[in-house]
Amino acid sequence: MTMREKIEEAAARYPDQRSAIMPALLIAQREHGHLPGAVLEEVAGILGVERIWVYELATFYTLFHTEPVGMFHLQLCDNVSCMLCGSEDLLKHLETVLGINKGDTTPDGLFTLSTVECLGACEMAPVMQVGDDYHGDLDVNRINALLDSLRATAGRVAGVEHASSRPPGE
Ligand code: FES
Repeated sequence: MTMREKIEEAAARYPDQRSAIMPALLIAQREHGHLPGAVLEEVAGILGVERIWVYELATFYTLFHTEPVGMFHLQLCDNVSCMLCGSEDLLKHLETVLGINKGDTTPDGLFTLSTVECLGACEMAPVMQVGDDYHGDLDVNRINALLDSLRATAGRVAGVEHASSRPPGE
C-alpha cells in the first residue's frame, strides 16, 4: 500500500479532513523517517487541507521530526515527575556516554537525544521513549543496558542489510 493509500484509508475514518492530519503525519513519518517540507506539502495535498495546518501540527508536537533523526530517537522526559526522579542526571549521563548534547545526533547516525514534555507515564518515572517504546524506572545501569541493546539491534540490522546486498552465492 502506498503512503497516499494509507493516508486516504486513515482519513476516511474522519468526517473532517483536518482531523486526519495527525494520523496522516504519523503515516508519512513512518514512511520517510522524518517530515521535510516536500512531504508536508504532499500530506496537505492528499488531504486537501491548508498547508499551514499541516505545518503547524508538524512543528508543534515533539513526536514529529521535520529534520532527520538517528536510527534511535531517545526522547527523555524532563517534566516534573521525571525530573524529581532523576531525569536531569540521566540526561547528563546520556550526553556523556553518547558524546553529544541534547538535540544532537551521534556521528554514526545511531542516536538522536531529545528531551520532551510529560509522556503520560509518570507512574514509571523517569521515562524515555525510543521509537514507539517506553522505557521506565530508568537509572544509569538501565540506560547503559538499553544503549547496549539498541547498538546490538543496529548491528543485526546492518548485518542483514549487508547480507542481502551481497550477490547470490557469495
Ligand atoms: Fe515524565 Fe510524566 S513527567 S512521564
